[in-house]
Amino acid sequence: MNQNKQFSIVIAGGGSTYTAGIVMMLLENAERFPLRALKLYDLDEERQATIAEAIAIELKEKAPAIDFTWTTDPQTAFTDVDFCFAHIRSGGYKMREQDEKIPLKHHVVGQETCGPGGIAYGMRSIGDIIELIDFMEKYSPDCWMLNYSNPASIVAEACRRLRPDAKILNICDMPVGTQRRMSQIIGLQPKDLEVRYFGMNHFGWWTSIKDKAGNEYLPYVAHHGYLTQIEVDTQHMDASWQATHKKAQDLLAVDPHYLPNTYLKYYLYPDYVVAHSDPDYTRANEVEDGREKRVFSAAQKIIDTGTSDVGSFPIDSHASFIVDLACAIAFNTHERMLLIVENNGAVANIDDDIMVEVPCIVGKDGAEPLTQGKIPMFQRGMILNQAMVEKLVVDAWINHDYQELWQALTLSKTLPSAQVAKEVLDDLIESNREYWPELKHDEHEVHLISESAVSEI
Ligand code: NAD
Ligand code: G6P
Ligand code: MN
Repeated sequence: MNQNKQFSIVIAGGGSTYTAGIVMMLLENAERFPLRALKLYDLDEERQATIAEAIAIELKEKAPAIDFTWTTDPQTAFTDVDFCFAHIRSGGYKMREQDEKIPLKHHVVGQETCGPGGIAYGMRSIGDIIELIDFMEKYSPDCWMLNYSNPASIVAEACRRLRPDAKILNICDMPVGTQRRMSQIIGLQPKDLEVRYFGMNHFGWWTSIKDKAGNEYLPYVAHHGYLTQIEVDTQHMDASWQATHKKAQDLLAVDPHYLPNTYLKYYLYPDYVVAHSDPDYTRANEVEDGREKRVFSAAQKIIDTGTSDVGSFPIDSHASFIVDLACAIAFNTHERMLLIVENNGAVANIDDDIMVEVPCIVGKDGAEPLTQGKIPMFQRGMILNQAMVEKLVVDAWINHDYQELWQALTLSKTLPSAQVAKEVLDDLIESNREYWPELKHDEHEVHLISESAVSEI
């Protein structure tokens, strides 16, 4: 892609709470990354229209030359595009709430991407993401998809299995968000940090945090913790996120040598998480009452007044990361970024076919992972366990296999036993009938004693 090119982008999940922030970021970057066309694509026409009409007003005022449209038609959306920024939520907040509340009913972690909730969400997302890839390849074969859609780790494994040659990069904003906090604690700019990191998505560790001169700050950050009171990362400021940043201290206690991704609390302290969760009001409710309301009422205000003078949308590390990534591909910048890629030796002592999150060099052909060497036994054990959980989920989706999904839940560190795993799974199946493939039972299936005629014993 040459330096004078103007780009055409489609945002899949146009009605997302993050769409407007990304568009604002694109506007801020208009000089380095000029746009000729911008499209939004969503299945939910009404939800998307609110965001789109507000953006249309913003763009008319600030960048009238950009051809801006929105649609629910895949052909219109995916024709003549250079990049697809994807952030769809299969099943919406309605199903996120179920993912969180059903496990909690069984005293098990209920979370968007971790444990049984993440597995349930994965079973919904896989088919939708594969469909987006197929639209992209059909209508714009040279297009790159930069995909935030969660659960990113399971989605990435499904892409590896089902569309291994697709031009898709699966990404997460959590490492950049945390690094923004770290840089503030250290007193540097986020881009001044050069990090080493290994693991899987929402399941990794920093092994080095250096400035450009090579000074190591890892012990300093470990001592300080991740809690910052200044709004450096507008995205992760709600009380529940602050509690998560605080809990990093207890993650560090288990291994003080590496800095943990905060999502590890769901695997290392599941009992604590359950004890501190409200089964009737989970993060889905908090987001509906917070971010979703804020974004949609800001959009409505712009529509009602016909001008963006009344306020705009926040730009955070989520938006800057995806725009930086698009620039790195478009202009072959070889920027170093953390991405989810097939291992192939990047982490020396785990399987090649695990989707890992590691620093990569990004250019016109995508990501080139940087080797992170051998990892210690504790992290290796955790990663291998979690990787097999996620592989079983993808197998279950492909094979429509109940047994494999039960095994996935049973293997997850967030569940205490096969019995509880089955109870949670059966409830999740019930609530996901509209979204999951129908799971087949093994003809040799053996029933649990607790399910047979116990009174006969
Ligand atoms: P949201 O519900 O506000 O937005 C998602 C949009 O996708 C909705 O408008 C919905 O109608 C649409 N959609 C659902 N299925 C679709 C499909 N098959 N095709 C087209 N559109 C579809 O959710 P949100 O909170 O804004 O989050 C959006 C997504 O981004 C979620 O998957 C979330 O987990 C993810 N996310 C990921 C990261 C990351 O670090 N990877 C960070 C933030 C958000
Ligand atoms: C982090 C994670 C994402 C997650 C996002 C929003 O940035 O990396 O994967 O989707 O937070 O979570 P929330 O609970 O605020 O919707
Ligand atoms: Mn993430």
